Amino acid sequence: MDKTMFDQRYALYLSEIEHFLSAQFEEKPHWADLYDSMRYSLLAGGKRIRPVLTLEFARMAGMDWRQVLPVACALEFVHTYSLIHDDLRRGKPTNPKVYGETMAILAGDALQPEAYRLILTAPGLDARERADCALILAGASGADGMVAGQVLDTLHQPKTEEELTEVHRLKTGAMIAGACMLGVAAAGGSDKLRAAAEEYGYQLGMAFQIRDDMLDVVGDEATFGKPIGSDAEEGKVTFVDLLGLEGCETAVRDCTRQACEAVAEHDGEFLCFLAEQLAGRNK
Ligand code: IPE
Ligand code: MG
Repeated sequence: MDKTMFDQRYALYLSEIEHFLSAQFEEKPHWADLYDSMRYSLLAGGKRIRPVLTLEFARMAGMDWRQVLPVACALEFVHTYSLIHDDLRRGKPTNPKVYGETMAILAGDALQPEAYRLILTAPGLDARERADCALILAGASGADGMVAGQVLDTLHQPKTEEELTEVHRLKTGAMIAGACMLGVAAAGGSDKLRAAAEEYGYQLGMAFQIRDDMLDVVGDEATFGKPIGSDAEEGKVTFVDLLGLEGCETAVRDCTRQACEAVAEHDGEFLCFLAEQLAGRNK
């Protein structure tokens, strides 16, 4: 796969994802201020890595990937709620800044059940596939997934490499691996592909989060879309403290290689290309 082919497929996925998301919450009930707040963050121009992963794994599992758009966007709803509640920017002022803290919290609250509504009403999936998808999303985002990672990260002062690895695995890896597994589950794919999806997702998630720690030190604020130096300011120990920038680069490269290996026998060229792109990302 060359860069042109990769870019074309990514752009196609991206445009379908944006199209699907922009059709959500368009109605105008008299509480449409809630819809506005939800749409503000949903349509603020994220990279859409997670839904792209869901679509690609569905394609690899032999399904018409367009049918999986609601499932892919369900996880993006949950990712978006987590950015709102974490007060993170997507290159624009944060949701609470624009809509106020109460509305921001409520918009995040609403995105969670709405995610499950998308899965439960997605056309083209049978009851078992729907249940499977809902369970994957709950596991990735819930009390033993992303939220556990947030608790450890913000309240438990992780310091050792082992502790930080656990935080990254739960906070970032679980959602990225969940996105990958959702694609296989929605397509009714094999257990073998599902295991490969999980391994690829965890390795990509680790690489992604270590790169995030690096960008918090050496990134460019305008490109990265969020403030630089926030980890140090909050007194957080990161992989940059433990491994140094060069050690982080090596770790990112190792995880990226393992991600590629996980999907090598499954037509994983696009995924390997994506992992390599993200290893050098600046935003
Ligand atoms: C940001 O995720 C939060 C982390 C897990 C580091 P992304 O960097 O994927 O954010 P968007 O979706 O592109 O805005
Ligand atoms: Mg960070």
